Amino acid sequence: MEYTLPVLDDQLKVIIAEYPTPFHLYDERGIRDRARLLQRTMNEAGVPRFQNYFAVKALPNPEILKLLVQEGMGADCSSLAELAIAEMCGLSGEQIMFSSNDTALDEFRYASSLGAIINFDDLSMVQPYINSFGAPEVGCCRFNPGDIEFGGVNVDIIGNPREAKYGMPLDDMIAAYKQLKEAGVTRFGIHTMLLSNELDWRNHEEIADALFGAATAIAHEVGINFEFINLGGGIGVPYRPTEHEFDLRGFAIALKKLYDAHDLERIGSPRIVMENGRYITADSGYLVTTVANIKRTHKVYVGLDASMSDLMRPALYGAYHHMSVLGKQHDTDLEEVDVTGSLCENNDKFAIDRMLPHLEVGDVLVIHTTGAHGHAMGFQYNGKLRHAELLFDPGGGVRMIRRAETLEDYFATLTQKGNYHVPTN
Ligand SMILES: Cc1ncc(COP(=O)(O)O)c(C=O)c1O
Repeated sequence: MEYTLPVLDDQLKVIIAEYPTPFHLYDERGIRDRARLLQRTMNEAGVPRFQNYFAVKALPNPEILKLLVQEGMGADCSSLAELAIAEMCGLSGEQIMFSSNDTALDEFRYASSLGAIINFDDLSMVQPYINSFGAPEVGCCRFNPGDIEFGGVNVDIIGNPREAKYGMPLDDMIAAYKQLKEAGVTRFGIHTMLLSNELDWRNHEEIADALFGAATAIAHEVGINFEFINLGGGIGVPYRPTEHEFDLRGFAIALKKLYDAHDLERIGSPRIVMENGRYITADSGYLVTTVANIKRTHKVYVGLDASMSDLMRPALYGAYHHMSVLGKQHDTDLEEVDVTGSLCENNDKFAIDRMLPHLEVGDVLVIHTTGAHGHAMGFQYNGKLRHAELLFDPGGGVRMIRRAETLEDYFATLTQKGNYHVPTN
């Protein structure tokens, strides 16, 4: 796997002159190409009426969702803010999938007012929802088979199904659909989301097999048909140079075969839906930073002007993100360093024991594959503010699609404010 930038080094320097680092840069063409590849591959394999609902949590910026809506996607939302982003982008009704857990009533109210598909995470939520908002137009429940064991990276992030807090076992699913049917619901879908950043399509196939089987069992037991089967997100991307691209074609062909083998026409010929976030935007995002400090003590620590509040995945999951240094991409004389942020947390490290070219203060270091679950996971611990997001458009222009936070933003929620003065020079 090779890691490149969507812009030339000189172009990036011009961008940095206008928008000081750190910032997240997204490549519109890359995002659109990926959206088209997914749709085209599923269509070519004959996967029935495939549609991706972009997982808004991966990159919750309306400018990004707008372009994915143009590419034919719906939105997968899990909170008030994500529902609001979907509404801002003109989505409503069944183009929004609301998959939450531990859900607050105001979230259900908003989702219901938009006509979103409500995806029930637990049996205990169905009747209270019906009591508060009436029967939903479409009844959908989240399945957790409990007994599939995986190996690999996904376990670190999402856990084995039995340990995952999401979804319900088959018996509860059957009870939930019975309640929905008794409440007058006539249209149904089914959902699961059990994999995260999974590069092996056979694991995705295994999930689809389990879900198709569950859908068939439920359809027969409850006496209903399904309009859609939602396999969740979780298609992986190669974060490491040694990893390979996901074999999308292999997966699409397997999916179609599985659809036919389960004879899903007998349960209403459901359309196949996914809600990938990472696969759509991760590769097209770059965290552009500047080396702020180099410290040589027990190890060499390269301090950046960004911190884990800009990209939490390495600290949270020990995740690897590839790095390149502007103008030094082809250097062969490397040095082992830890790449750090400035938070008072020792796990604020973008890389540990990484071989990088010899760095100097002022070097521009680009962290790759940050377009999903990157800026979105930002936080303000230590008073670190979230930085700007820029979009590089296919015409070669760059525009800011979210400004950097300021101290005013940080203090905006205080009920008592005092005076302060930050010198600027
Ligand atoms: C319910 C649900 N759907 C979709 C996704 C998107 O996952 P990914 O970005 O890995 O495709 C997530 C991620 O956490 C999720 O929780």
